[in-house]
Amino acid sequence: MYVRMTVLTDFTEMDEGKHYDVCVAIGPMIMMKFVTILTKKLEIPTVVSMNPIMVDGTGMCGACRLMVGGEVKFACVDGPEFDGHLVDFDLAMKRQQMYKTEEGRALLRYQEGATHHGGCGHCGGDK
Ligand code: FES
Repeated sequence: MYVRMTVLTDFTEMDEGKHYDVCVAIGPMIMMKFVTILTKKLEIPTVVSMNPIMVDGTGMCGACRLMVGGEVKFACVDGPEFDGHLVDFDLAMKRQQMYKTEEGRALLRYQEGATHHGGCGHCGGDK
């Protein structure tokens, strides 16, 4: 088994002649997005560790909602590791930004309905 640990700045310098079984990417979403673009091109299976905003960590508040392979997933209960080639990073990063304001959170509640908030009753998101 060959293991290479690296940072993004070195990642484009793949070791010539080496076979990579899997890539594990952990870090900022924008970094993981570009790692998965590269590994998809190189056909390297890639696991990402998603780190969206989490509120209750029980799958009820919806704060960590992601789209993975076209399905709604919650990083706190379904992950946080996912197949990086299936994660909608653009949507995940957009949601992260929207969570910074009350208006953004309200829009997410409106757009995502029950999948945004399961009604934990603690964070006020169900009101
Ligand atoms: S933190 Fe995952 S649903 Fe609330």
